[in-house]
Parts: sequence; C-alpha cells; structure tokens
Amino acid sequence: MNYNPMRTTPAKANYSSKDVLVIFGEVFNRGYINGMIEEAQKLGMTVIESTVGRRDKDKNLRALTSEEMAQKNYHCVNIPLEAGFDLETNSSGLSPVEMLKGIKLKEWETKKLDFALIEESRKKGEERFLKYLELWAQEIEKIIPKDSNIIFAHTMAGGFPRAKIVMPAANKVFKGYDERFYSSEKFWNTDIGKLCSISFNEVTARTLKHLIDATGSLRARAESNNAKASYTAYGYHGSETLIDGNYKWQSYSPYLQGFAKLELENIAKDYFEKGINCTVYNCPEILTNSTTIFLGVEVCLYPLLDALKKEGPESEKVSKLFIECQNSLLPDQTISDLLKVTQEYVKNPIITKSYSMENWPQHNFPEHMKYMQLTSQKLINMQASKDNLMTVQLSEVIFKSCGELMFNNSFIKTQPVWWLNHDIIAKTYAAQD
Ligand SMILES: NC(=O)c1ccc[n+]([C@@H]2O[C@H](COP(=O)([O-])OP(=O)(O)OC[C@H]3O[C@@H](n4cnc5c(N)ncnc54)[C@H](O)[C@@H]3O)[C@@H](O)[C@H]2O)c1
Repeated sequence: MNYNPMRTTPAKANYSSKDVLVIFGEVFNRGYINGMIEEAQKLGMTVIESTVGRRDKDKNLRALTSEEMAQKNYHCVNIPLEAGFDLETNSSGLSPVEMLKGIKLKEWETKKLDFALIEESRKKGEERFLKYLELWAQEIEKIIPKDSNIIFAHTMAGGFPRAKIVMPAANKVFKGYDERFYSSEKFWNTDIGKLCSISFNEVTARTLKHLIDATGSLRARAESNNAKASYTAYGYHGSETLIDGNYKWQSYSPYLQGFAKLELENIAKDYFEKGINCTVYNCPEILTNSTTIFLGVEVCLYPLLDALKKEGPESEKVSKLFIECQNSLLPDQTISDLLKVTQEYVKNPIITKSYSMENWPQHNFPEHMKYMQLTSQKLINMQASKDNLMTVQLSEVIFKSCGELMFNNSFIKTQPVWWLNHDIIAKTYAAQD
C-alpha cells in the first residue's frame, strides 16, 4: 500500500464560471460534498446534482416528483441513480430483502443464502443502474457546454440491504458492548455479512467505474475542445490526527465499508494508469447523514482542535471557533478537559491495538467497543446541549477544507489516492478568509 498524505496545499485551480461541477450522488445537508459545492459557487460555476430516486409504496424505483424537485438547490438531473440490488427479484421470485424476510433474531447468524440467486439480483441491479446511467450521461451531455472543464464528484456510499433483520444485527456490531457486544468479524463471515459485502462493493466502489465508463464520450468531447474532465471520489482509510504533538495515523473500527473503500482506491488506480485524471481522497471521520450507525467515529474528530491550535495559532478564525466550542461546553468544563479525554483515548493501547495500516480495515473487539462507546458518551456529556454538539462545527471545518483541497487539486492529474489529514485541513482552514 502506498500511503500518500497531502502535505502541501495545491495551487488555486484555474477553473472559471464556464466550468461545471457534476455531483454523482445526492446532496444532503452537512454531507462532505457541500465543501466542493462551496468552492464551485465561489467561481460562479454550474453545479449539477444527481438523485438516487425514491421507492414508491410497491418498492418500485421512481424519479423525484415535482414537489421533491422543487426542494433541490442545484440543477438536478431527475434520473434515479440508486445503486445496489437488494430489491431486485431473481429466478426464485424473491429479492434479497425478501429472501431475508421472517428471519428471527436468533437465526440470522446461521441463515444460509443462495449466492447464485444473489448474483442474479446483483446483475439485474447493475443492468438497471447502467440503463439509467446512460440516460443520465446523455442528459448531462446536453447541459454541459462543449468547452467547459468538468469535475465529477463521486459521493456514493452505502448498501446495507433494507431487510428488517439487518439493522438490529448491524446495531450490535457497531454500537454494542458488554453483553450486547457482537464481533464484526463473526458478522462479516455470516451469509448476511457476505451479502452486505457484495452490496457495499456495488454501491460504494463499482459506481465509480461505471461513472468513468459512462462519461467517456463527454470526456473525449471536453478534451477535443481544450477542456479537462477530472474525477474525484471520497474515500476513507484512516486519518492522521495530532497525538502527543505529532501527527499519527489512526483509524475508526469496525469500518466494514472499508473493504469496498479499498476497491474504490483500486478502481481509481486502474483508470489513473490508463491516463484519466481520477483520484480518491481519503478524508477524516466527520458526522453526516451517513455516519449515525458508526457511533464513536466522532471521537477522533475532537483532536482537530489540537491541530488547529498548532497550525493556526495566530488565526482569528481559529480563535473564534475555539470560543464557539468553549460555549457549547457545560460551564464547569473546558476545551483542555475535553482534549485531555481524547488524547488519553487515541493513545490508549485498547485503541492503538486496532491501528494497523497494513491490515486495514480492522474488526472490533470487546474492550475496544466499550471504551469507544463510553468515551463518545463522556464527550457528549461534557457539552451543554445534545442539539448543539461541537462535532457539527468541527465536521464543517473538515468538509469545507477537504472541498477546497479536492477542488484545487483536481485541476491537474497528480496521484490516484491522497490522504487529507488533520494537518493540511487545519492549515487550509486557518488560511481561509
Ligand atoms: N462521513 C465520514 O466520516 C466520511 C469519511 C470519509 C469519507 N466519507 C465518504 O464521503 C462520501 C459522502 O458521504 P457523507 O458522509 O458526506 O454522507 P452523505 O449522506 O451526505 O452522502 C452519501 C451519498 O451516498 C449516496 N448513496 C447512498 N446510498 C446510495 C445508493 N444505494 N446508490 C447510490 N448512491 C447512494 C447518497 O445519494 C449521497 O450522495 C461517501 O463516499 C463517504 O463514504 C465519509
């Protein structure tokens, strides 16, 4: 594995108002993509959003209604780009979700699935996705001027099968400790775990390949008009945070999506070698719509404050953020108290035992889950209101800085995989006006 952290800030990209940011995924409040959108908007670029579509009451995939479209802030191509196959019927007459119907909590570990049938559903889901993707590509080709530079931003991640039994099992794996602890490795080796693995790969990784393939003619058209097309994607593969004054790599576990994130990196490397400007940016842990299941992922977000202090000691912006964070604590708590807790956490052997870049992603184990969950709770309890946690502000610092770094770096083909860690993020934030 080539660990490749970005240490120097890329030069400002030469994009202009005639260029276009195309988001491959839907935009949610507080999602990572908002950082890139902000950069594109500063230059007056066109922003094109996609949608995953919605399921009607009979579970058929549909485009957005006019009311739903009216809620969209950017030009939305209304073609349902949901990836995955959990609702696709196979030759048994059932979909994977239906195959899992009626399983009791006690039975899920031993439930056997017919993977030949699952493969039929996977293929069917992929065919549907590719059919809609072709229409989507034709649509954006009509909207984008021939000589515009295009930045594609892949945001898609997910793929938990929507069967009733999956969530209670996943909740135990990601949130359980003491008698509710459940080994992520054991889960991953069950048939339901294997189904999740195929599904994560389909949604989180293979969609990048499909995007690049489907936009070949658009890319060629841009290039023949002296314009560029670049592909950016959000990855996760641990991140460096300040530990005892030095930046050190650490990782949240059990990040079962990580296997698909490795595949995402491989896809980027493959296309990069073929000459395409395609890069996965491994970004730090933040809180978004998609992270509610990964309770405890945010513990490593707080030490961003240590990094900000180090990289922006004179920055007014950083000082203001510290005041805001101090105000969100209970009156008898200080930021130093809070950072003491997170420093103890990132250094504790119970946690460091799970840091291994070579064997990433790691599975959970009982003491680690307990310590992570209790620390997460402790940090939340130090704050005055559960509705105004400082993790919201810190997440914003990260998604905005990553957006700026990715946006500027996309202008020139550099590397297929970059890590954006707390050091460069803090530097970027402190330098923003
Ligand atoms: N939040 C984090 O800590 C973190 C860290 C590193 C990387 N990332 C990555 O950033 C990207 C954006 O995630 P986010 O955390 O900002 O959350 P988000 O909820 O804002 O974005 C998730 C995206 O996935 C898409 N999506 C979900 N299910 C899909 C499906 N079945 N088919 C197609 N698209 C689907 C959504 O439309 C949305 O665009 C993801 O790739 C995520 O893995 C997140």
